[in-house]
Amino acid sequence: MLILPRKDTKTNLMSIPEALFTGKNKIYYEEISSTNIYAMDLVSKTNPPDGTCIITDYQTAGRGQIGRYWHSDVGKNLLVSYIFYPHTLKVNDQFYLNIISGLAVRDVVSHWVENIKIKWPNDIYIGNKKAAGILVQNVLRGDFIRSTVVGIGLNVNERDFPADLPNPISVSSITGFDIEIDQVFHFVSARLEFYYLQLRNNKHTFLQNEYLSQLYRKDEWAEYTDSSGFRFSGCITGIDPQGKLQMMIDNGAVKSFGFREVGYVI
Ligand code: BTN
Repeated sequence: MLILPRKDTKTNLMSIPEALFTGKNKIYYEEISSTNIYAMDLVSKTNPPDGTCIITDYQTAGRGQIGRYWHSDVGKNLLVSYIFYPHTLKVNDQFYLNIISGLAVRDVVSHWVENIKIKWPNDIYIGNKKAAGILVQNVLRGDFIRSTVVGIGLNVNERDFPADLPNPISVSSITGFDIEIDQVFHFVSARLEFYYLQLRNNKHTFLQNEYLSQLYRKDEWAEYTDSSGFRFSGCITGIDPQGKLQMMIDNGAVKSFGFREVGYVI
């Protein structure tokens, strides 16, 4: 796949609207264990305003999905966690928080680079490489979401990744120039607020259609592994109401997969 930087990207950031409340209450640390850990602790003890964010230059214990570590060199990338209260969102619909965060970061990266996709559930891919990871952690109240922490790690200016990371990439490795992290932060806040407000206004169909239209490998046959490591061919057809990945497998049946139940062969 051909990966190209967009041509007009240095100048037109001015056209991006400012967020009204997302990222306005901003808690900054030069260094912290993990912005997600801090944010989860904060919402458990206090009631920070909707859209509050914790942002840092460096995490000593950055958290990824399924207990993985999130790598990011000092000051090179966006490391931020936002706190929201989507309290009318049902627990059964919590995947929409993955959808809105994936769409927001996709929009931002697409400002600089073409052909950006969301790899289910919400990794941001440039070609076959991962440019961003998002860790959504929810606190439930009965059948509803009391609060959510949306932690975003977006590789902006990093050029040398540790050799043991499977397929990392940064935006600047494609554009060829460094990008100000603060600009990226404002842009992410604005797009996240846009999609969060769509969710608050129950625009579920719109969000789902947007997500599916950006989904990595949708309607393409490719190789996957199941939870016992068995390799199979599949074609992603969509997501089910719980956000599980739906895939047609080579005998024609459509199966739903949870997060730990499928691996992408890349
Ligand atoms: C993934 O594994 O893909 C999710 C990575 C999420 C990393 C971000 S960096 C900012 C925030 N703080 C964390 O500890 N994790 C998230």
